[in-house]
Amino acid sequence: MSVATTLQAIPLFAHLTDEELARMGELTRQRKHPKGSVILFEDDPGDALYVVIEGQVKVVLIGEDGREVILATLADGDFFGEMSLIDDEPRSAHVIAMETSNLLVLRRDDFQRCLEDNPRIALGLLRALTKRLRLADSKIGGLVLLDVTGRVARLLLEMADENDGVVISRKVTHHQIAQMIGSSRETVSRTMRTLIDENLIEVVGKTITVRDREAMESTAGLR
Ligand code: CMP
Repeated sequence: MSVATTLQAIPLFAHLTDEELARMGELTRQRKHPKGSVILFEDDPGDALYVVIEGQVKVVLIGEDGREVILATLADGDFFGEMSLIDDEPRSAHVIAMETSNLLVLRRDDFQRCLEDNPRIALGLLRALTKRLRLADSKIGGLVLLDVTGRVARLLLEMADENDGVVISRKVTHHQIAQMIGSSRETVSRTMRTLIDENLIEVVGKTITVRDREAMESTAGLR
């Protein structure tokens, strides 16, 4: 696949002309990160923007006791590392490859020039950041206002909405769910069992399906 075709599949660059795509192809390089490798370290200075071409990464904070909080997981077409480039502050979190991931890297100076030259990229970036803020608001609200069942239900609905609103296509473990909603693996396993017993969700192999959307929304405090 040509670099231009790869770039065109990324929402942030999808509207660029062939000429602009070719130029962007010259500015970016691809890098492969094996599963489990740290791509960015919290507090490091920011030197580049990354786009996931293929794979999955997690944005995490790690406490002094080694506990991990997953702020977000990002997959094909998503970008990260923009915050330090925009505000010149150190990296706000670690970013770790959850599976072997193929990334596109754009150096700081080139990223800043791209934004200046291309208002549509800047607008796309703002739109994506606004979406992230909405998700973060929802998460903060959930942490304060919902019990663990409500938080699990809300997270499952968010993940189903990445797809068709019904099937959760990405593979997620109970431990990862716990790290995303601030709970323990044991509590999440118990909660998942209850949601299955009450016919709100179905789990076949590693695939989770929302069976009763209305009841899930009600549990998640969305109705
Ligand atoms: P930066 O601070 O440069 O490095 C860590 C990156 O993680 C950050 O840029 C964002 O790209 C990403 N990030 C931080 N917080 C979130 C979040 N809540 N949701 C999605 N991505 C995030």
